[in-house]
Amino acid sequence: PIPPIYDRLGRPLRSLRLSVTDRCNLRCKYCMPEDDYAWLPRDTILTFEEMAELTAVFTELGVDKVRLTGGEPLLRRDLPRFVRQLSENRRITEIALTSNGVLMADQAADLSFAGLNRVTISLDTLRADRFRTLTKRDLHHQVFDGIKAVIQAGFPSLKFDTVIIKGYNDDELIDLLEYGKTVGGEVRFIEYMDVGGATDWSMSQVLSRAEMLERIGRHYGGVTPVVENSVAPAERFLLPDGTLFGIIPSTTTPFCRSCDRSRLTADGMWYLCLYAKDGLDLRAPLRQGRSREELKTLITAAWEGRADRGAEDRKALEAVGRREQHLIEINRLRE
Ligand code: GTP
Ligand code: 5AD
Ligand code: SF4
Repeated sequence: PIPPIYDRLGRPLRSLRLSVTDRCNLRCKYCMPEDDYAWLPRDTILTFEEMAELTAVFTELGVDKVRLTGGEPLLRRDLPRFVRQLSENRRITEIALTSNGVLMADQAADLSFAGLNRVTISLDTLRADRFRTLTKRDLHHQVFDGIKAVIQAGFPSLKFDTVIIKGYNDDELIDLLEYGKTVGGEVRFIEYMDVGGATDWSMSQVLSRAEMLERIGRHYGGVTPVVENSVAPAERFLLPDGTLFGIIPSTTTPFCRSCDRSRLTADGMWYLCLYAKDGLDLRAPLRQGRSREELKTLITAAWEGRADRGAEDRKALEAVGRREQHLIEINRLRE
């Protein structure tokens, strides 16, 4: 294995998230709430060959985990072909996919055959009416067809990402855990984050990790934390019957300290943090024919300068906001 490069906070670059398209077939209120978006122009979208080439540069710098994301990655035509290309890169130990599941039924088998290792499906609710409200699309049944196909294809790992929003689906914690058991998938509850398209976000809609644990523990008669030595964003827990589940407490308990990930957009912009405003353009140098060594130099310099702690900064801001709010209230009481 190749030793990774480290940033200013001593964090290695190990994981690369490849957004293969900016488009999505859902309009989730916490992600892409508008009806219309200005999509990336076609000629700016990297070809699979270009993306595999950039990935090869990253893997020569120590990256060994790749996750395909979007938008919705299954909207990109012929995705299994890309998975196959990536699987030919011997330095990649794990190729994972995050999908909303809508188009999974048709593609799960091909993706597995092409070398995809792990699948995470976004599943926020078990109720069709809520799904429609959340996503503005009536495609809930297709998600379940997709999940069935994933199970049939025999992926060694299936996870569910569930964003919990107070007053929307926070009464489904137990139902979702029970559903996970029946299909053999690990449910991960995500604290609602103030990021990207979450224009409607407010702290009052966040169900905290502590509240989740309290509710789940009360129902099942206890939860046990699993002690792990990993950088995965999810903290994992066991129910008394041995069921494993996760919580991703990005809002109340950010994990920036151990963040080893970066993201490449479909048009070749490289972002060092989920909250970063600016990215580094890798498409231009790639298309200008820069060598792998030159690209490596560019990437290394950027990573070595990285000090981002987006989620932690966000949390600090929130705390200042609350303190100010509190002071205003105290002053009001004094007046
Ligand atoms: P594994 O745990 O290895 O399966 O992967 P993962 O958790 O990184 O993958 P996934 O894309 O499923 O991420 C789960 C959730 O974690 C996302 O939906 C986000 O809510 C959150 N998340 C992912 N990446 C970041 C990040 O870079 N920063 C923060 N703050 N949250 C993130
Ligand atoms: N808060 C929490 N999680 C989010 N995701 C997207 N936007 C947010 C947000 N504002 C996660 C969801 C989605 C995955 C692709 O990213 O889990 O399923
Ligand atoms: Fe990493 Fe930025 Fe996410 Fe923190 S907010 S975990 S630094 S990507």
